[in-house]
Amino acid sequence: MASNRGVAYMGSGNVEVQSIDYPKLALGDRKCDHGVILKIVATNICGRDQHMVRGRTTAPTGLILGHEITGEVIEAGRDVEFIKVGDIVSVPFNIACGRCRNCKERKTGICESVNPARPGAAYGYVDMGGWVGGQAEYVMCPYADFNLLKFPDRDQAMAKIQDLALLSDIFPTGYHGAVTAGVTTGSVVYVAGGGPVGLACAASCHLLGAAVVIVGDMIADRLAQARSFGCETVDLTQGASIEEQIAEIVGEPLVDCAVDCVGFEARGHGADSAVEQPATVLNALMTITRAGGALGIPGLYVTEDPGGVDDNAKFGRLSIRIGLGWAKSHEFTTGQCPVMKYHRQLMMAILHDKVQIAKAVNATVITLDDAPSGYKDFDKGAAKKFIFDPHGVLGAVA
Ligand SMILES: NC(=O)c1ccc[n+]([C@@H]2O[C@H](COP(=O)([O-])OP(=O)(O)OC[C@H]3O[C@@H](n4cnc5c(N)ncnc54)[C@H](O)[C@@H]3O)[C@@H](O)[C@H]2O)c1
Ligand SMILES: [Zn+2]
Ligand SMILES: [Zn+2]
Repeated sequence: MASNRGVAYMGSGNVEVQSIDYPKLALGDRKCDHGVILKIVATNICGRDQHMVRGRTTAPTGLILGHEITGEVIEAGRDVEFIKVGDIVSVPFNIACGRCRNCKERKTGICESVNPARPGAAYGYVDMGGWVGGQAEYVMCPYADFNLLKFPDRDQAMAKIQDLALLSDIFPTGYHGAVTAGVTTGSVVYVAGGGPVGLACAASCHLLGAAVVIVGDMIADRLAQARSFGCETVDLTQGASIEEQIAEIVGEPLVDCAVDCVGFEARGHGADSAVEQPATVLNALMTITRAGGALGIPGLYVTEDPGGVDDNAKFGRLSIRIGLGWAKSHEFTTGQCPVMKYHRQLMMAILHDKVQIAKAVNATVITLDDAPSGYKDFDKGAAKKFIFDPHGVLGAVA
């Protein structure tokens, strides 16, 4: 029997590398003859994992983490027609059936058939259908023909694998944030959050032709990382308000579009920058976005948060100044990114050198055994996107 190892959530602040079952083409009683088994080439730590590892969700201990997966197909189920053994593929973090009403409308982030509890599923995530995570050596991916993106050429893919590894989530997610905020040629954009999603969003804004991309955060290293590829920055620990700092850069306290790449663990601004204030980003974006603009909101908001700052926040009820957004006719787009809508185009942009996404997010390769320290460093705000190398193949090309 083949062996497997994976990164398990072991209670607030703890992860552990454990021996786990080698995947089967099934999830419990549910047969997955439409699935494949992947030998994982790259699998990343995400801010979404951090919500669980910080104890900010109802994730059970023992949950195997990991929804950002790139791998080689080593076994294909009976019903898989087009994906073949030997293909190197990117796995969208959303699991989607390709057959339900939402999938048919390309809303693959809210597939109706892959999670009995609610629309939308992911690998290795609380309340997301119980699919085993991919911070591991091997993983099973269902509905393979529909979900997986095959890289055209193995050697070409391995030469850019750190960039391609970001197609499973943060590059499409950042891009979706930018697209839904209406970013286009000449836009002035504010991106809240300089974590990997914020940086991927900022790089996407450049790819879409934005004139000015301003990244806001409290972490100096993350702001420096944003400046390294041509962004302007706003330091939210400063006394000067966000409006004043934006006016300093663009001559007025307004932007065309704004993207929330922070979510429910947002901190306040200025004197409150060490304090959690979950509505801060949404209210700031409505304040600084011009009337008629749009807000992309990939930052995650939850329906249950045991660590919420008050009884409302514990159930995702936040003090959002919706009247302000309404008065300015703002558009809002929330929810999981439907990765499949974007991953092929973004793959082509990577393969043809139109974007340096791994460099923008400072992709950093570590071993699976480094998981505990990788999670700790990421939690402390390292300006890095950690990529696990479970079979030691990225080290060879890095
Ligand atoms: N919608 C999706 O499909 C999707 C996919 C992936 C991640 N996400 C979400 O995107 C968010 C960002 O992910 P990440 O991996 O970059 O996480 P991260 O935790 O590394 O980054 C968040 C950053 O926001 C900063 N921040 C806190 N308060 C702020 C404020 N008021 N203004 C500006 N910055 C502030 C933090 O200092 C941190 O650098 C998370 O909420 C994550 O769950 C959503
Ligand atoms: Zn992710
Ligand atoms: Zn579906």
